[in-house]
Amino acid sequence: MNAPLRLPTRPFAPVELRPLALAVIIPTLNECDNVAPLLAALDRALAGREWEAIFVDDGSTDGTQGEIETLARHRRDIRLIRRHGRRGLSTAIIEGMMATTAPVVAAIDADMQHDEAILPRLHDAVLAGADIAVGTRYANGGSTGEWDKSRVRKSEIATRLAAAITQTRVSDPMSGFFVVRREAVLAAVPHMSGVGFKVLLDLLASSPQPLAVAEVPYTFRSRQAGASKLDSMVALEYLLLLVDKITHGAVPARMILFLAVGAVGLIVNLAALDMLLNGAGFTFRAAQTAAVALSILFNFALNNWLTYNDRRLRGLAWLRGLATFTLVCGIGAIAQVGISEMVYDERRIWWIGGLAGAAVGAVWNYAASSFLTWRR
Ligand code: GDD
Ligand code: MN
Repeated sequence: MNAPLRLPTRPFAPVELRPLALAVIIPTLNECDNVAPLLAALDRALAGREWEAIFVDDGSTDGTQGEIETLARHRRDIRLIRRHGRRGLSTAIIEGMMATTAPVVAAIDADMQHDEAILPRLHDAVLAGADIAVGTRYANGGSTGEWDKSRVRKSEIATRLAAAITQTRVSDPMSGFFVVRREAVLAAVPHMSGVGFKVLLDLLASSPQPLAVAEVPYTFRSRQAGASKLDSMVALEYLLLLVDKITHGAVPARMILFLAVGAVGLIVNLAALDMLLNGAGFTFRAAQTAAVALSILFNFALNNWLTYNDRRLRGLAWLRGLATFTLVCGIGAIAQVGISEMVYDERRIWWIGGLAGAAVGAVWNYAASSFLTWRR
């Protein structure tokens, strides 16, 4: 029998590092005056929990990034992801959630409209077994606060539309305030659209299996400082998200926009042709050449501004983009003529030939330009 091993007694208690429990993702776009008050509020609300803050900033121009850097100078639990140019709220939250090792993640707006005081309850609901816990304005005493009638009405319509595409019943699918298991996000990400503002809805509709949802009511507050980024573009992106989800991704939001821009471009083409031919007395060839060139320029500029607003080209890249886009459209036109001729030879119906050519041309232009002109 050996004598029991004697360990040296330690003069100090060992340093204990508790594992990270929660990452709070905060998307920011020009929220300089809001970050300090928000962080103070989060520190208060989450006292006693191991958490980190991850700011995801899309090129704020008001000093938001500098402000976050200042606040993070003496802390290891504040991180900043800098993205270039405006890339969108949904993808900001998704990328933030993918950038942490915490098992549970939260999304909260930077402008203090979400009531951070319910974060512990949301977190506890997930710890107790829910896949996701949502802050709701529409159940059990939650409220939209000081919203005017028109915004309440718009939000109602959007909420009703949303119910059509998710099997999971939640009272506030438009909420941007929730806590979720990181695994549930990772499982849904490959199927998510990432378009626009409605990341929760996207997540619920894209999850491979229905998520167990808990809801915690809160009252939506008024914005503290700065301005809202909700504009008509956001409403359009919301509709595109719905189409994308209803067709299960068969009709991507981007393609719808691209085709819509093309349709407007055709009107521009015809209007210019009419003006130059009938108004200015150009020959048909000269008038149509100028009109086509103009519509290519128009299509490029509008697609760059709208369809690819998250990858917008500027300066020299804009010119290079215009060149590759023109090339793509040129090849598309050749394909269009060829296909319509082939179909016409077979069927002998002129408009079927024409439509077939246009369809192939449009899809080619979309696919090729997404690769050549607006490649990620
Ligand atoms: N990184 C990044 N990129 N952040 C953005 C972007 C963007 O393109 N656009 C907006 N944000 C940030 C804002 O800085 C803010 O922190 C948060 O996202 C919400 O933006 P607001 O402009 O304040 O939007 P809102 O108040 O109209 O919408 C919010 O409330 C809705 C409920 O009615 C959002 O939280 C929605 O998700 C929520 O559904
Ligand atoms: Mn807001």
